[in-house]
Order: sequence, then C-alpha cells, then structure tokens
Amino acid sequence: MHVFRTIAEIRFWLQSRKLLDHSIGFVPTMGALHEGHLSLVNHSRELTRDTVVSIFVNPTQFGPNEDLSKYPRPFESDLEKCFDADVAAVFAPDPSEMYDSERFIRFGIDKLGDHLCGKSRPNHFEGVIQVVNKLFNIVNPDIAVFGQKDYQQFKIIEQMVHEFNHGLKMVMHPTVREADGLAISSRNRYLTADEREIAPTIFTVMKEMEATFRTSPDVAPTIKQAENRLKAAGFKIDYISVVSNTDLQPLDTISGNFVIAIAVYLGTTRLIDNIIVDNQ
Ligand code: PAJ
Repeated sequence: MHVFRTIAEIRFWLQSRKLLDHSIGFVPTMGALHEGHLSLVNHSRELTRDTVVSIFVNPTQFGPNEDLSKYPRPFESDLEKCFDADVAAVFAPDPSEMYDSERFIRFGIDKLGDHLCGKSRPNHFEGVIQVVNKLFNIVNPDIAVFGQKDYQQFKIIEQMVHEFNHGLKMVMHPTVREADGLAISSRNRYLTADEREIAPTIFTVMKEMEATFRTSPDVAPTIKQAENRLKAAGFKIDYISVVSNTDLQPLDTISGNFVIAIAVYLGTTRLIDNIIVDNQ
C-alpha cells in the first residue's frame, strides 16, 4: 500500500495505474476510520481495480465553534485498517498542501443546502464542496463512494459532479449501524456510557415515524411527536425533518420517496442520521 503526502506524488502514481488500464475507486474520509468507512472501501474494491482512500481533516468545513482541533486523528491505526482492507493508496496531505494562505474563490450552494445540516452549519457544505472538488481533480477516479449517513452531503456532491462535469460515477453506500441501530460515527466515542445507551433512540424514532406515515401523511404532528419523544429521552434537537429525496425540500404531506433526517445533541456531541423511505 502506498501512502502519499503530496499531490505530485499521487498524480505520478495514478498515471502509472491508468497506463495499466486499472479502474480507480475513491473513498474520501477525514480518518478515524471505522466499520462505516471500511464498508465504503469494500464496496469500492468490488467495483474497481485500485481503491484510493484520502485521509484529510478538512479545516474549511468546520465552523468556528466546532470540533476541528479535537477531531480524532489516529493516523497509524488508520493506515493499518487501510492496509488490511487492501487499499491500493492512501492520500494524506497536510493542510498546507491543499490550501494557500488566501482564498479567492468560493462555491455557493442553492436549494440543496437550504435545509437540514446546511441550515444549522453555515458554510459547512461550501467547505465540503471545495475540498471534494479538489480531491476529485487530484485523483480523477472512475467512481467515488460516499455513505448515506451524510445524505445531504451526497446529494450536494452529486449535483456538483453533474454541474461541473466531473467524469466519475457517484455511488451511495447504506449506513452501517451498531447492533442496536446507532449509526457508526467517529463522534460516538465522545458519548458517555449513559449517552451511548440512549443514542439508538434516534434510529428507533425514525422507524416509528416511517410507520406512522404509512397511515397518516400529515408531516407536522409526527415531527412534533418525535420531538417530544427525543426530548424526553434527553436529546437536544437541532432538526427533525422530512424532505423530498431529490431536492431536499421539506414536505407538508408525504408523497413519493422521502427522507427522514434527524440531527440532535447528546451533551455536547452532535449526532445525525437519516432513513430513505421508498413510498412507491
Ligand atoms: P467522514 O465523516 O470521515 O466520512 C467519510 C465517508 O464515510 C462519508 O461518505 C460518510 O458518509 C461515510 N460514513 C460515515 N459513517 C458511515 C456509516 N456509519 N455508514 C456508512 N458510511 C459512513 O464525510 C466526510 O468525512 C467529509 O465531509 C469528506 C467527504 C471526506 C470531505 O472532507
């Protein structure tokens, strides 16, 4: 397995892969790798010859009061996990390799960024788009695999790929969960034992909402019920939303396929999750 720190090095290696006609799969990450990330890697390996994983804690997608400095960076164990998962190359640049000290160009995101995490984390998705755009230009993969866990992120990147003509296929992989339903996340490690015990309620509540929508299509009362349930369990609510699965706009009444998405705080830890409901 190769580990590259610079853009020039990985580009040089990728050229040789392309001369050999190897297809390239790409899994962008911020490290602290867990089963969720590794399932994306396995999916990519099934679809392509060589899988590249990037490990880069992207500073531009963190807000001023977010956890950039305390974001976990267990680099050596990440490399071991990549090696065990048969990753062909890891790209792990320093921030100085990715960014100049001054920034002149910004992306703006319309509509897809208006709700959900786009609303509660201003500029977050601009930072995501900025770094993923750069990573796609550097790696130029045939496919890129992302998790459903970050559904809004997937939809925004998918739109960027379309509007900016990146020549790659976006692949969405389902959310990997603990046995009790909690979506695996690098932030789960911040939970106390008590918080960890109530955290799976997020998934339970989403499944309850899905069941309720089968008989009552009105969105507002079901959201209210879920809010009460989560508050009673000890969560602070960021949002509970029911949105169209295509343009991510909130629905008043259920119709077509939709997404139930939740962001909550347990103590200081922010957890997000979603389910896609196939309503055809
Ligand atoms: P990160 O949070 O490290 O996630 C990397 C990828 O893993 C994303 O596509 C995310 O959706 C996926 N993922 C995380 N938890 C998962 C789970 N439990 N099941 C399935 N997939 C899961 O998302 C980012 O990094 C960054 O924003 C990035 C795209 C790398 C840009 O900096």
